[in-house]
Amino acid sequence: MELWARGLSKVYQNNLEVIKQASLNVRGGEFIMIIGPSGSGKSTLLYLLSGIRRPTSGEVFWNDIPLSELSQKELAHLRYEKFSFIFQQHLLVPYLNVWENVCLARGVGLKKHAEYLLASLGLKGHLYKRPNELSYGERQRVAVARGLIHNPKLLFADEPTASVNPELAQTIARFLAQYCRSGGACVMVTHDVSLLPMATRTFTLKDGVLTESDFIGD
Ligand SMILES: Nc1ncnc2c1ncn2[C@@H]1O[C@H](COP(=O)(O)OP(=O)(O)OP(=O)(O)O)[C@@H](O)[C@H]1O
Ligand SMILES: [Mg+2]
Repeated sequence: MELWARGLSKVYQNNLEVIKQASLNVRGGEFIMIIGPSGSGKSTLLYLLSGIRRPTSGEVFWNDIPLSELSQKELAHLRYEKFSFIFQQHLLVPYLNVWENVCLARGVGLKKHAEYLLASLGLKGHLYKRPNELSYGERQRVAVARGLIHNPKLLFADEPTASVNPELAQTIARFLAQYCRSGGACVMVTHDVSLLPMATRTFTLKDGVLTESDFIGD
């Protein structure tokens, strides 16, 4: 699998160019991390790469297919089947319990796999709680489990370790690194520089400009 983005720009209604000519390619097995200050456009970039938002100019290709040529239905199908997105705001469904949130829209047949993912992320014993009975960091890990439940080809993760302690952040990142080594791929936004050595490549986003950087081994 391969995702290519070429010359991506995004201008919001207020005429602010939030992403400026960003290019990136992601292949199977890669764990790409992007760091950058708040407001630099990290979430926007993930939305463009994953087809959630359309770029103002530039193109994203999935296995040589331009996303701009897909219908809304085809794009939704691609996002459902092949991609996955862990939102910065988690977006759990309040009236579903933990395992139901993880299996959401994919069927109860995945409950055993959900249990495995949740246990691996330190959430054994939380299966039947609702989001409002969980800490923020626990909710975040439910969102991570939900992101992996269908073994996506490509996972987009928007600050998936933002509200957990350093040891849990390492646990989550190691889990994502393992998923990439076993054939997946991940583009993750983070503020946590201690995680960067786990990445296969790292990028910095500053004022909408994406630059490859070499943090590994620093
Ligand atoms: N829908 C929108 N309409 C107009 N401006 C927006 C919209 N979404 C984001 N922005 C602006 O785009 C810029 C980048 O926002 P974005 O959420 O991508 O940043 P970020 O790097 O993810 O920030 P954070 O680290 O705080 O999550 C900000 O200045 C923000 O105000
Ligand atoms: Mg963000």
